[in-house]
Amino acid sequence: MRGVRRAIVSYIGSVPNNRRAVWDSASARLVRAAGYLDEHPDFERLDRLELIVAYANPAAHAVDSLRTALGIELPPGRSAWSHGAAALFDAGAFDATGFAPVFAPRRTESLVGLGRDLFFDPALSGKETRSCASCHQPPKAFTDGLARRASLSGAHDRGRNTPTVINVGLQPGSFYDQRAAYLEDQITDVIANAEEMGHSVDAAAVRLRGTGTYTARFRAAFDIADDSALSPARLRMALAAYLRSLQALDSRFDRAARGDTALLSSSERHGFTLFMGKARCGTCHFAPLFNGTTPPTFTEAEPEVIGTPAGPLGTRDGGRIDPDVGRFAVDRIELHRFAFKTPTLRNIALTAPYMHNGVFRTLEDVIDFYDGGGGAGRGIATPQQTLPRDSLHLSRDEKRDIIAFLGALTDTVGTTRRRP
Ligand code: HEC
Ligand code: HEC
Repeated sequence: MRGVRRAIVSYIGSVPNNRRAVWDSASARLVRAAGYLDEHPDFERLDRLELIVAYANPAAHAVDSLRTALGIELPPGRSAWSHGAAALFDAGAFDATGFAPVFAPRRTESLVGLGRDLFFDPALSGKETRSCASCHQPPKAFTDGLARRASLSGAHDRGRNTPTVINVGLQPGSFYDQRAAYLEDQITDVIANAEEMGHSVDAAAVRLRGTGTYTARFRAAFDIADDSALSPARLRMALAAYLRSLQALDSRFDRAARGDTALLSSSERHGFTLFMGKARCGTCHFAPLFNGTTPPTFTEAEPEVIGTPAGPLGTRDGGRIDPDVGRFAVDRIELHRFAFKTPTLRNIALTAPYMHNGVFRTLEDVIDFYDGGGGAGRGIATPQQTLPRDSLHLSRDEKRDIIAFLGALTDTVGTTRRRP
């Protein structure tokens, strides 16, 4: 806060006289926020919601008003952190097109609608029996309630847990091992896998062309005059556009962070403080996306090793590492053996079971695992574990509050409709 204030001090000479109040307000709010932090030095107890609502958001807004008053342009370039928002918790602060490839077409309703229909269409699978939605089921926040499915690519011999696709566009790589840089690549992988869709994007495009109904829609969505509009590449683009449209960042937590603090119970609010403080969850699941996309630039995400066991805690397999080597299978970097992307915790109350192998059936099991220092804390030999191996010493009430907070991250509005 003080560093930002020092930065704005250097602009004081360029502030026009009639805008001086804007500078004064930015300065005063930064000083107030710094003062609040001075008065609350306890990392574990600092009420994060109060900090955000009463101090950080107002300071961010005042600094942004000053920037506008001074006519300073934002740096060019794309990122998921939208230039249109002053504070991280503002509505519209994030935009999935920040992670889209340059060739992705502009999002229109006809493109997204086409992608949506493809997502629910079994014609994409070899035997026409399975659609994307067979596993990514809207009522379960686009998961399937199963521990795991068969392998998607053969890159690992055991299957993985079906992740949510809500907010899937807000991360720099998809799949648990981040092997697909763009959703467009990811789609090729899924459709081609023998055990999943058992098809290829090329063959799917040929089949869709044969049915006739899709060609006109591809022509309209991509503004191309002839039937070449329905190509494998555009099939992927339409699906990817639909996936990027599945953005929902208006949970009770979000609305509370924008000022309506009464929307959270005291248990949920305390849970947020624990999440960001004593339990250290926010050091990997970064607020406000609660995935691994790292602030302040929101351009990258490091894979992390937490030592997920092969079986539930208390069983024999609970003391062994799950054999899926994760990111290591992709980049062969020893530090990435058993490393996985940090998944989003948004809608987590709807997406049990948990982890890449679905080993934990409840959030209670997950919290107990973290409370014990992850895999290494339980004696699983993972020297490269990035999660601290010591106990968090969470009380029963504290665990309950963290779970209550996670429940406030549910928002599927606008994503589960079959049609607009
Ligand atoms: C048989 C079940 C199944 C089907 C069918 C399926 N998926 Fe998935 N999906 C999964 C599993 C399991 C993963 C995680 C795989 C991994 O991480 O290696 C996944 C991962 C993804 C991801 C990455 C999510 C993330 O956050 O990393 C996206 C996006 C996705 N699927 C979209 C689709 C689309 C689009 C289709 C249809 C073309 C589809 N899926 C069909 C099971 C399925
Ligand atoms: C060192 C980084 C790190 C920290 C700290 C961390 N997590 Fe995670 N979290 C991960 C990774 C990586 C995964 C995925 C692991 C896997 O699939 O095996 C994960 C998975 C999860 C999942 C399952 C998600 C799903 O969709 O299956 C939940 C729930 C979760 N974490 C909650 C928490 C909570 C609560 C805390 C704090 C007590 C926390 N995490 C702390 C990195 C971290």
